[in-house]
Amino acid sequence: ETFDATGLHLLPGAIDAHVHFREPGYTHKEDWRTGTAAAAMGGVTTVFEMPNTNPPTGTVEALKLKQKAAEKAYVDYGLYGLLAEDNLDQLEGLIKGGVAAFKCFMGNTFGNLPSPSTGAMLEGFEIIAQHGLRISLHAETASIMALRQKKLMAAGRRDPLAHLASRPAVVATEAVARAAILAEWTGARIHILHISSGDELRPLREAKARGVDITGETCPHYLLFDEHAYTDLGSIIRVNPPVREKHHQDALWEGVKDGTIDMIATDHAPHDPEEKLRDDIWRADCGFPGVETQMPLMLTQVHAGLLSLTDYVRMSSTAPAKAFGLYPAKGAIVPGADADIALVDLNRRETIRAKDLHSRGKITPFEGFETVGAPVHTLVRGRFVMKDRKLVEDASGWGLSVTRIQNMPAPEPRHVDETTAAVTGAAGKGAGRS
Ligand code: NCD
Ligand code: ZN
Ligand code: ZN
Repeated sequence: ETFDATGLHLLPGAIDAHVHFREPGYTHKEDWRTGTAAAAMGGVTTVFEMPNTNPPTGTVEALKLKQKAAEKAYVDYGLYGLLAEDNLDQLEGLIKGGVAAFKCFMGNTFGNLPSPSTGAMLEGFEIIAQHGLRISLHAETASIMALRQKKLMAAGRRDPLAHLASRPAVVATEAVARAAILAEWTGARIHILHISSGDELRPLREAKARGVDITGETCPHYLLFDEHAYTDLGSIIRVNPPVREKHHQDALWEGVKDGTIDMIATDHAPHDPEEKLRDDIWRADCGFPGVETQMPLMLTQVHAGLLSLTDYVRMSSTAPAKAFGLYPAKGAIVPGADADIALVDLNRRETIRAKDLHSRGKITPFEGFETVGAPVHTLVRGRFVMKDRKLVEDASGWGLSVTRIQNMPAPEPRHVDETTAAVTGAAGKGAGRS
């Protein structure tokens, strides 16, 4: 098949490390067909899908249901297994069953999965570290925000800004620091999801400097909105963690520029209008779709000179491919080399309209945003899944499950001491390292 790509730029397809496609369990919000159609339309060729479905992807049985649902995918996908308090005995089975990575909810969010104790996290990190899979963290400390929310509710606060007040930056920063310490101890690879504050960059930078295999993502909404969004958008902007004050937004851009933030992901989190647009902020579901709008929004930043095109490609494609081991560390294969491609028109002007989104969740805080730059064609393993800005309907089912192929040794655990030796019988294993 030939086609005309005159004037277009060829980019490796975006790899979105953070989407919620809701199936099984919440298909009135999204399903695998609509979610991956949105990805194809957004120039995204691989997604990593989150386990807070119903049932949550925390057992081998639930993984099978998820795999079945994903069979209609337009684009490739990695499935997250859940790391929780009560499923440590399932982790090996989930790995054998083909999960690409793990997700741990340190704080509660949609789906209300209880956060594991630090003890269970440590044990889970130890098990997963043996296999080299990365663990992605929803890093917000449950106990801090529970107390703050209780006080705010008692004071009668139901306005949009109360959401931000209940989850200040310390909530996320404390969790990032704790996760990094557990990763350093166990040698687990970790990834910090949806970095929303400048404060989180301190423990992230420190952990990187200490040799922890830690990566971090931010999302377009944290780069493009500040606290004014609560007045302008009400419950539409309610997301976990919250969009924050301008100084955080500035610090995140710094983190993008200096490389502390490795990736752009979207936290694509579609909801039904009935559940999202509620006056009582505590009852409005958190999150909004993003997988379809990421590339136009970020290419607009490239157009404005805030980000180079190479840095954008690194953050949207190369970095997630490396972090999640989607290509061998040595050898010729590079992201996009199996013809996962977005052909983009860097000058194409569009206006984002919720009603045009392919996601079932037709609500976006980016309504009316004028973008410059858009994917025109998307190819997954050489096959068009979007052509001339139109979904290739019969490509549903073309998407395949991906998992970690690169398995470079993870960093050595730093703290194999007498205590560990006594428990595991591994006396002397870590001697002389530090
Ligand atoms: C996400 C969802 O709806 O699944 N919501 C959100 O506000 N980000 C869950 C999450 O990522 O925390
Ligand atoms: Zn989250
Ligand atoms: Zn999420």
